[in-house]
Amino acid sequence: MSRIGFIVLFFLSLSADFLPCFSAAKQQPPPKKKSAPPNRIGTSAIFPVQGNVYPLGYYSVSLKIGNPPKVFELDIDSGSDLTWVQCDAPCTGCTKPRDSLYKPKNNVLHCLDPLCSAIHSPGNGPCNSPTDQCDYEIAYADHGSSLGVLVLDSFPLQFANGSTLGLRLAFGCGYDQHYSGQGTPPPTAGVLGLGNGKAGILSQLTQLGLTRNVVGHCFSGRGGGFLFFGDDFVPSSGITWIPISATSSEKHYLSGPAELYFGGKPAGIKGLDVIFDSGSSYTYFNSQAYEAVVNLVKKGFNGKPLKEATDDRSLPICWKGNKAFKSVQDAKSFFSPLALSFTNAKNVQLQLPPEAYLIVSKYGNACLGILNGSEVGLGKFNIIGDISLQDKMVIYDNEKQQIGWGPVNCDRPPKS
Ligand SMILES: *[C@@H]1O[C@H](CO)[C@@H](O)[C@H](O)[C@H]1NC(C)=O
Ligand SMILES: *[C@@H]1O[C@H](CO)[C@@H](O)[C@H](O)[C@H]1NC(C)=O
Repeated sequence: MSRIGFIVLFFLSLSADFLPCFSAAKQQPPPKKKSAPPNRIGTSAIFPVQGNVYPLGYYSVSLKIGNPPKVFELDIDSGSDLTWVQCDAPCTGCTKPRDSLYKPKNNVLHCLDPLCSAIHSPGNGPCNSPTDQCDYEIAYADHGSSLGVLVLDSFPLQFANGSTLGLRLAFGCGYDQHYSGQGTPPPTAGVLGLGNGKAGILSQLTQLGLTRNVVGHCFSGRGGGFLFFGDDFVPSSGITWIPISATSSEKHYLSGPAELYFGGKPAGIKGLDVIFDSGSSYTYFNSQAYEAVVNLVKKGFNGKPLKEATDDRSLPICWKGNKAFKSVQDAKSFFSPLALSFTNAKNVQLQLPPEAYLIVSKYGNACLGILNGSEVGLGKFNIIGDISLQDKMVIYDNEKQQIGWGPVNCDRPPKS
């Protein structure tokens, strides 16, 4: 199973206008904060992560929500900002049994609430009566979607200093979900959006003065890992930083431009706009970059015993060796490293060794975990998904407007 967490549409359903988030972003440039207001305490919250790239296709956290609290397993998505849970309002398109859904109880946000205005584009959120509920609809690049209302409820979070605060946070109560075409719907009960939009959890924690406006994750290639809000777990050295693009929406993390390298040499592909999207299982390149990668990878097989495994449908392109591969470690010697070099950040490189772009399928073939973004309608955007984010700490710092990564063992959460 695979998914793409990057938002393509986000609009208020009170109005019938469909407004792509990019045009909304142009009307409202994200505020560039250089430093945190002095009242920030700087405490962080850290959570264990479950999941893997293959076969599950996602990483998730289990969070308690509501009073009395219920546990919801949420897909971790840095490609969107709204957090929502499957909700019994009642529900169409919920995958969980009714008694494990979130049940709203007179706690719906009204459309005049500033958090509600934040999810509407200017002029695209008529509030006919101040008591109208705050509707939302979010659509993801894989054509999954959720429609519902914003609610405010208890969101008990344990902080790294040991305190558990019974915060009241706004999130989506999703009562009409559609899932992307193929396969079974995800077993998760919603999405944890890590984007910096005002209605997102991160921005609310920052507004309450609880954490720095920083969020990070560390996904292990062996499955699991950890996620944190705040900056207490960011190592003081060894992190490579690149600026978030001035054209990025607050809803996701866009960087660029990047140049593609293969086997240490430029591949002739420049100016790639790259979204760091933990809600996407695989990495997507635009048609031109994708074609270059496929050709270069194949060229690298010269004289090596690898054949295309056309009967393996795990991913669009798979290769078989002389005997079945047991793991990516087994197959990696046949493949060269890729890298993205960020031209506006002193050409620092995001290294993509074979284990950051290959999976070994259940049939023992090595499959290319870089997919054709043009085929799924991503246009000029490229997505760095979970497969390429594994086994490093990845940090989204909205205060310094930068994205960072560094070598960290994701198997064990750091001690606070
Ligand atoms: C722990 O951090 C939270 C959030 O910043 C704060 O509200 C709380 O007072 C802190 N607790 C202690 C014991 O310092
Ligand atoms: C990628 O997808 C586009 C759009 O479907 C298609 O035109 C193109 O041929 C594909 N590229 C490759 C290398 O398959």
